[in-house]
Amino acid sequence: MADALKIGVAGLGTVGASLVRILHQRRNELAVSCGRAIEVVAVSARDRTRDRGIDVSSVTWYENPVEMAKSADIDVFVELMGGATGAASDAVEAALSRGLHVVTANKALLARNGVALAALAEEKGVLLNYEAAVAGGIPVIKALRESLTGNTVNRVYGIMNGTCNYILTKMEKEGLSFEACLKEAQRLGYAEADPAFDIEGNDTAHKLSILTTLAFGSQIAADDIYLEGITNISIEDIHAAAELGYRIKLLGVAQRTETGIEQRVHPTMVPQNSVIAQVDGVTNAVAIESDILGELLMVGPGAGGNATASAVLGDIADIAKSRPGQQMVPVLGRPAKALETYRRAQIQSHEGGYFIRLTVEDRTGVFASIATRMAENRISLESIMQHSKQLEPGKPQTIILVTHATREDSVRRAIDAIKSEGYLRGEPQVIRIERPKDA
Ligand code: NAP
Ligand code: HSE
Repeated sequence: MADALKIGVAGLGTVGASLVRILHQRRNELAVSCGRAIEVVAVSARDRTRDRGIDVSSVTWYENPVEMAKSADIDVFVELMGGATGAASDAVEAALSRGLHVVTANKALLARNGVALAALAEEKGVLLNYEAAVAGGIPVIKALRESLTGNTVNRVYGIMNGTCNYILTKMEKEGLSFEACLKEAQRLGYAEADPAFDIEGNDTAHKLSILTTLAFGSQIAADDIYLEGITNISIEDIHAAAELGYRIKLLGVAQRTETGIEQRVHPTMVPQNSVIAQVDGVTNAVAIESDILGELLMVGPGAGGNATASAVLGDIADIAKSRPGQQMVPVLGRPAKALETYRRAQIQSHEGGYFIRLTVEDRTGVFASIATRMAENRISLESIMQHSKQLEPGKPQTIILVTHATREDSVRRAIDAIKSEGYLRGEPQVIRIERPKDA
């Protein structure tokens, strides 16, 4: 049997502690399938006194993960600390610079600096593996980077944040408040250290930017994403969606258009009968539409210690099975130098259906005015309804419109015109509708 693969794990939180536990529990099976043992020889975290439910007493403890990355004792640096800058970034760069393989689950770091890190890994002839960075345990990186080579991808989209999907599901099915659901997601280890990254959509945007690069061969462009989180979604929207035959999901969508690549993250209404509408809780789903294969839909656990550690483990096993001199898969699907400049399609030119919820004064002519403003902007309506549960004369009324496919800029113009009429009470709610191929 070949020499053991020696790994250093930086970060012993939800994911790191699960990984160390699994590596210990499965050491015999892993040694057989990889043809060599995998040994944790070093770890790093901030608080040495914290009980993590794992025994790391016999491995070298580093206060500073950058020092661990420089240690001659390790073959692979596993980064599970998080953060786009600071210790995680410094340590990954130090490890790659000295020719160590790196495994990370850190989508924020890759979204910010992935192309430079990929170039560095390629220059040094080492692997930078990051399966856990997108959609937790779902092997979507491998699918896009390796299995779909030769396909032209037209659209990739999905539920990529377990915390948000967990919150939306619990709000709908158990009637719990947004805050209570978020607290529970944090307790279960799904949320980011700063959960604003989850609920405001940044985490989905980081993941989407990585998938966009793998799917379309362009530079990572995480700042060029239209972004809306779920903080604005009320139980009223969830119920209205259900009444109309939809469910609300936070989707990340990237698609080829005539003007460039459209990347957007926002709450989205999907038809109840589509598979993606039925993906609940912490489960994620990623759909990839390509010309040779057609539609591929991958569904699985999107966050949490074990699900994420499973993907990290797969990345480590790939390194354990690789042999010196073997041709390496480019980190981002093609050599970093061959990535194309990202050409952004603006959200204003997005075309699709829209759900629009308006709270209006109860007076004559409002319905007709709304219909006129829509028509003036060439927006064709699939349905318009006054919300049946709120028909109390004299009180503000809720009007819900669903449009046929139309352009975003038309919808924005129509809403501005409606706002100027003076009968609106509160901000309109606008939710885009996405049609999966199976709906
Ligand atoms: P976590 O529970 O907050 O754990 C972070 C760990 O990093 C802690 O052990 C912490 O040490 C350590 N750490 C932070 N800064 C450090 C520093 N400067 N030096 C040394 N150690 C440091 O985070 P997590 O949920 O495991 O997530 C880790 C990474 O995986 C993140 O990039 C996250 O985005 C990604 N990820 C997480 C999930 C998930 O479901 N949780 C899923 C996919 C990807 P202390 O324990 O001593 O504080
Ligand atoms: N906070 C992330 C989520 C972890 O909830 O999906 C998995 O990347």
